[in-house]
Amino acid sequence: MKNKSLFQSGDLDGMKQIKRTKISEALQLKNFGEEVNVKGWVRTRRGNKNISFVALNDGSIIHNLQIVIDIETFGEEFLKPITTGASINVNGILVESQGKGQAVEIQATEIEIYGTADPLTYPLQKKGHSMEFLREIAHLRPRTNTFSAVFRMRHHMSYAIHKYYNDRGFFYFHTPIITGSDAEGAGSMFEVTTLNLNNVPKTKEDEVDFSKDFFSRQTNLTVSGQLEGEMGAMALGSIYTFGPTFRAENSNTPRHLAEFWMIEPEVAFADNNDNMDLAEDFLKYLVQYALDNCKEDLEFLNSMIDKTLLERLHFVVDNNFVRLSYTEGVKILEESGQQFEYPVYWGADLSSEHERYLVEKHFKCPVILNDYPAEIKAFYMKLNEDNKTVRAMDVLFPKIGEIIGGSERESDYDKLVKRVDDFGINPDSIWWYLESRKFGTAPHAGFGLGFERLMLFVTGMANIRDVIPFPRTPHNADF
Ligand code: 4AD
Ligand code: MG
Repeated sequence: MKNKSLFQSGDLDGMKQIKRTKISEALQLKNFGEEVNVKGWVRTRRGNKNISFVALNDGSIIHNLQIVIDIETFGEEFLKPITTGASINVNGILVESQGKGQAVEIQATEIEIYGTADPLTYPLQKKGHSMEFLREIAHLRPRTNTFSAVFRMRHHMSYAIHKYYNDRGFFYFHTPIITGSDAEGAGSMFEVTTLNLNNVPKTKEDEVDFSKDFFSRQTNLTVSGQLEGEMGAMALGSIYTFGPTFRAENSNTPRHLAEFWMIEPEVAFADNNDNMDLAEDFLKYLVQYALDNCKEDLEFLNSMIDKTLLERLHFVVDNNFVRLSYTEGVKILEESGQQFEYPVYWGADLSSEHERYLVEKHFKCPVILNDYPAEIKAFYMKLNEDNKTVRAMDVLFPKIGEIIGGSERESDYDKLVKRVDDFGINPDSIWWYLESRKFGTAPHAGFGLGFERLMLFVTGMANIRDVIPFPRTPHNADF
């Protein structure tokens, strides 16, 4: 048996140097009897007067590694600060576990305490905190099982998105975050300025003099990378963006953030049917990727957060999405006999109660609605021959409602200029966008997937504030 020694945090010539093994890997090891090093945060410590069991977690996997500590060797006093939340560095012998629920454990030979967590003030003592409380400690919540699972999956989904497009010859195209145009024409934008708000320069007409501002013009945080993304597609053929987008809507719902991430593919020589095919294939790929690569986290979320999660994920992968027109969808809603909070009629912007009725009650599967009334959709969408509807499509998902919104784009210069005019948009503000229709214009289509809406779906979490590490919502930009 090797000499056992103890170290306090800060000892420089401290413990025996052994290369760290992540707990995800340590749990797979079979070289029993050999010494390994693990580091992590204490989830719990329990035991009796002879022996102490620490459940150690380092974030690499949902599971903990059990550290067995002989109390006589280390001494009660030394072990006292090893409480829930403390960070420790452990050398020990890998042994086959006697207990249930784990294959291996570590018999500690040396322990260093990196950082203590006072049990009286560390907030994550017991399980069962409310999601609302955990939002108030967003700086610590990644240390819970639930949030570590969600954020690991966020990573895997991001990777899967890049892999999906890379494998299919799409190029990742970086669109600006600060822009001068309002892509969605929605007007709900955050302004970007360096003007002194206590002493704003004014023009002769007593309006804000943006010529004095940093960019010599008015600018805002982007609501979508689409308009610039289209310029990429008109040169590289198939592109996608994946970046933060911002909306200053005062929407306090479980599905809206003021800062969210969006994936926007844009494809030249594609129509709205190609667009719907891509959207369906993409979503199925992502869900299958989660099932294949996030097994342990999904099993945890399925048992602790949403008992029908895995069933729902399999259902999406195994079934075709239903496609129908907005007009047909509204007819179904009108004939449903349901009392909706918001009235439904042709021309109404559907709300999530309508969307969820179609998906959850009527078709019982994901739905792609297309050919929406022109007035309720953005200026850039291609007008149909009926002059009333546009080639838009929204993908509607169970529990979420709209997860994707997209369209074929108006590629005809004159028609686009007319639409811009109808919407009251100043054509000078998007001169470059209009110009793309003068030089080698071509049919093209694309869509936007809200990344956090996808995360809601694949994790079974109920509130969009709980699938992004530091949510931004009205009246809340802490952390
Ligand atoms: O439907 P939207 O507004 O479409 C666009 O922005 C287009 N430019 C996309 C395109 O064609 N390239 O937004 C797209 C998606 C929605 O379907 C939804 O999933 C998500 O973005 N989204 C939000 N997610 C969280 N919080 C918000 N406030 C969101 N607004 C939209
Ligand atoms: Mg939309």
